[in-house]
Amino acid sequence: EKRSKQAMQEAHQLVAKLYHYVLTETPYGVEAMKYLAKRGMSPQTIAEFQIGFAPDSWDFVTQFLKKRRFSQELMVDAGLLAKSDGGKVFDRFRGRIMFPIQDTQGNVIGFGGRLLAGSQPKSQPKYLNSPESLLFNKSATLFNLHRARPYIRKRKQALLFEGYVDVISAWQAGFPQGVATLGTALTEQQARMIRRNVDSVVLCYDGDAAGQEATSKAIHILQQAGLIVRVAPLPQGVDPDDYIRQHGAEAFSQQVLLQAMPVTAFRLKHLRSQIVIHDETDKARLIAKAVEIINELESPVERDMYLRQLADEYSLTLGDLKWESKRVYKQQK
Ligand code: UTP
Ligand code: MN
Ligand code: MN
Ligand code: MN
Ligand code: MN
Repeated sequence: EKRSKQAMQEAHQLVAKLYHYVLTETPYGVEAMKYLAKRGMSPQTIAEFQIGFAPDSWDFVTQFLKKRRFSQELMVDAGLLAKSDGGKVFDRFRGRIMFPIQDTQGNVIGFGGRLLAGSQPKSQPKYLNSPESLLFNKSATLFNLHRARPYIRKRKQALLFEGYVDVISAWQAGFPQGVATLGTALTEQQARMIRRNVDSVVLCYDGDAAGQEATSKAIHILQQAGLIVRVAPLPQGVDPDDYIRQHGAEAFSQQVLLQAMPVTAFRLKHLRSQIVIHDETDKARLIAKAVEIINELESPVERDMYLRQLADEYSLTLGDLKWESKRVYKQQK
């Protein structure tokens, strides 16, 4: 097993170099380079993240690995190659921009591949990642952690994104303390990996329904791991990479990161966006639910602050709201 793992590791390192070479030094990479330039990715960023291109070929990597005498079976297991039902082995990644995924020591253990815009039929998924293997355990990997770690410690804060492109975009804009999961939901293990470096994390998921949903789930897991969580507000339909490209680094810092909300504030905002108020009954229901969220806070000081805000917002007396809080609390138990 150890030898297989070593061979997989070696193959990934070589193939990462190969993809990077194809992107930056050959005619096969020209279109992809143009696409990345259009997305605002600088040559330094492409070099730092060793971004590459998998040419649109069925056997480019297959031949490369064969010449170097890697076992095809092993390379299929590692996800660099794939195998048809008929047993034919071929390149798994074709016509994709390749993002190497590294472990905490910086060894390449997998890839994320994004379709080059418009170059492929729609039947292909936009993002394709390496499969789970002896080498690549997705639930125990955070994209960019090995690079971000010193910055996370220095800045006493980690940024958690949905996508590796968001991490790279943030890095380029001067926010090097970002990490991302790999197309899967955040795991307890990943939360603990963050907690080992820092006690505070800012969630920067996409400003769409999926992102909000994932945020709610991630909050719970991060809090369980002992992290203080804040949620960065992104405009509807915008992800961090879009935001940085549209508004720049300064705005991302001032309008997004510095506006990151405590979990309770985020949940109250989310609640308001979900309940449509027509009359007093709707309003009372909203207030009861808001009080329920506030009741979950352990600190009486924090509870008091949020109750005061709520009282102001709906022109209620603090006394009535505290009464309501007790009533709801009895039902919560
Ligand atoms: P998104 O679906 O938000 O990507 O997935 P996007 O922002 O539209 O992509 P661009 O901007 O056009 O390139 C967010 C992230 O989730 C991961 C990728 O890291 C992606 O960047 N992802 C998504 C996967 O790993 N696998 C998937 O199948 C889908
Ligand atoms: Mn999308
Ligand atoms: Mn999204
Ligand atoms: Mn996105
Ligand atoms: Mn995006």
